[in-house]
Amino acid sequence: MGLNRISRAAIALLILLPPVAAQGRRSTRPQVSRPDGEVWNVIRKNCTRCHGIDDYAFFALDGPGWNSLLESKHKANGGYNLSDADRKTLVDWLTSKFGPETKPFPRSYIPPEITTFFSDPEAHRLLERACTKCHGLDRIEMSRYPEEHWRVVAVDMRERGAQLSDEELERLVEWLGRVWGTNQDK
Ligand code: HEC
Ligand code: HEC
Repeated sequence: MGLNRISRAAIALLILLPPVAAQGRRSTRPQVSRPDGEVWNVIRKNCTRCHGIDDYAFFALDGPGWNSLLESKHKANGGYNLSDADRKTLVDWLTSKFGPETKPFPRSYIPPEITTFFSDPEAHRLLERACTKCHGLDRIEMSRYPEEHWRVVAVDMRERGAQLSDEELERLVEWLGRVWGTNQDK
């Protein structure tokens, strides 16, 4: 009986999980963290019934730019029907987070497959070179993320100006997931 349950669970897992290689090669998507207070109220009331908020990061626009993007995307589906006050709250927040001085998250970053992995000194050298121009390494050391989320952070940092190749980015992400990941067993 117990065994039966376990093997059924194992089969379900096998069906659900794509092969490891395919997982690694999915395009990476941005992750936008939920705003607080009034802004979240406006979004929750008006936006999230149709789609999430992560896609906002694909854009870097000023106020008029956000207004016309939102209008044009929702002309056909009536998704943009806000009071003036709510629209101002929303667009002010959008411009502060995803304004014209930011870089839009790339539409498609497909991680390359890597076959060699960073040692600790190699990873530290790359961090020193590519990551200390704008902030200290403490900004990185205080974070613990699963590999997938480190990839989002690293792609975001590259959009902001960190200089590293796709290969270097992937090796760094693998190392960060291994050394500064969320696996408590180590
Ligand atoms: C009725 C459903 C609906 C609601 C409500 C809605 N949207 Fe959308 N939204 C869509 C659809 C459908 C698209 C895709 C349209 C297209 O690509 O032409 C979209 C596209 C977008 C895009 C562009 C996404 C991309 O990746 O290009 C943004 C940004 C966006 N919506 C923000 C918002 C915001 C902010 C709100 C709340 C004010 C909102 N949406 C409310 C249906 C909705
Ligand atoms: C061109 C400037 C720049 C470079 C280079 C840079 N960063 Fe950042 N980083 C930022 C800024 C700006 C923030 C603050 C963003 C925010 O708080 O929204 C930040 C925040 C962070 C955070 C905290 C945010 C989070 O989501 O946890 C981490 C971790 C991070 N950076 C990692 C890195 C790594 C790893 C590198 C090297 C690959 C790097 N950064 C290189 C500008 C940079």
